[in-house]
Amino acid sequence: MAKSNIIKTAQELLAKGKGILAADESFPSIKKRFIEHNIVDNEESHSAYRELLFSTPEIEKYISGVIMFDETIKQKTDEGVPFPQYLSYRKIIPGIKVDQGTTQFRELSDEKITLGLDGLSERLSEYRSLGAKFTKWRGIFNIGKDLPTEEFLEENTKLLAEYAFLSQKNELLPIVEPEVLMTGIHTSADCLETTSKVLSIIFKKLRKRKVLLSGLLLKINMIVPGDQSEEKVTPEIVAKNTLECLIKNVPKEVPGIVFLSGGQTEQDATSNLNAIAVAGKKMPWKFTFSYGRALQNSVLRTWAGKPGNVILAQQIFLKRSRLNSLASLGKYHLSDEQEEI
Ligand code: 13P
Repeated sequence: MAKSNIIKTAQELLAKGKGILAADESFPSIKKRFIEHNIVDNEESHSAYRELLFSTPEIEKYISGVIMFDETIKQKTDEGVPFPQYLSYRKIIPGIKVDQGTTQFRELSDEKITLGLDGLSERLSEYRSLGAKFTKWRGIFNIGKDLPTEEFLEENTKLLAEYAFLSQKNELLPIVEPEVLMTGIHTSADCLETTSKVLSIIFKKLRKRKVLLSGLLLKINMIVPGDQSEEKVTPEIVAKNTLECLIKNVPKEVPGIVFLSGGQTEQDATSNLNAIAVAGKKMPWKFTFSYGRALQNSVLRTWAGKPGNVILAQQIFLKRSRLNSLASLGKYHLSDEQEEI
């Protein structure tokens, strides 16, 4: 295995003041987002939207890499340049989601296990030939009465470790994404407890599978209360709890933690990342964003599928990316939101 290439990709993705755009919405997810904004959902509109994002002027100043979906990595710009080549030309690293969504774990179970190990080696080598340099696999964990179950934790983390092993074997940097979902009435303390448990099991499994810890990135939720919880938290509290969780469970060999936004508002995701960067200055890991919704919600709303709105939507995307870049450096202030675009 060319370990040095993987480690180099990790460092490039973590370049100072840059983060990752998650543009890897699967068919059902993109459909849901497009319907919310009355945008027609088909191959052409998916491609037009991804081109809007990828071709935003100056975006390479703030975005180091893009996670694509299977359809996207095979699509081209209007001028016929395949997206991975187009991104590379702009000095943005192409990446790909390699899990294939989730399915019900057991009959009557409320847990959803990740799919995608079948044929994964073949798909990894195909993606590598298409220009991908890194991959992502998401496992989701619900907090609820008696959830997550021990059996599910065992199985879903085993899949994450197997994926990471195969990705490294195919010389692609894995982004290991265990997401403890925000949906529910749970408290920050519940989120901290479950996320800690998930992380401690994952690192046991990764070590057992002999995955190179310096050759992966961890993509994780911040420690926040559930979206239906009454609890209110400041960014400083989110940062304190998140760092406590990472210190307890993440080995220092892991080069970086890239956060998902998980349903937080755009502004909360930025403020919370900023507080983590400030409080985590002396930690062994680099911190940055790997946001989907928190980089795209207002972009989609502005674009609304209309060619005449592309430029304004790109300006909004550039602004959101710049603010998250500032946050990754701990230099974001709420007043920055008022800046003209
Ligand atoms: P969100 O930032 O919208 O949570 O998406 C990130 C992601 O990659 C989910 O898999």
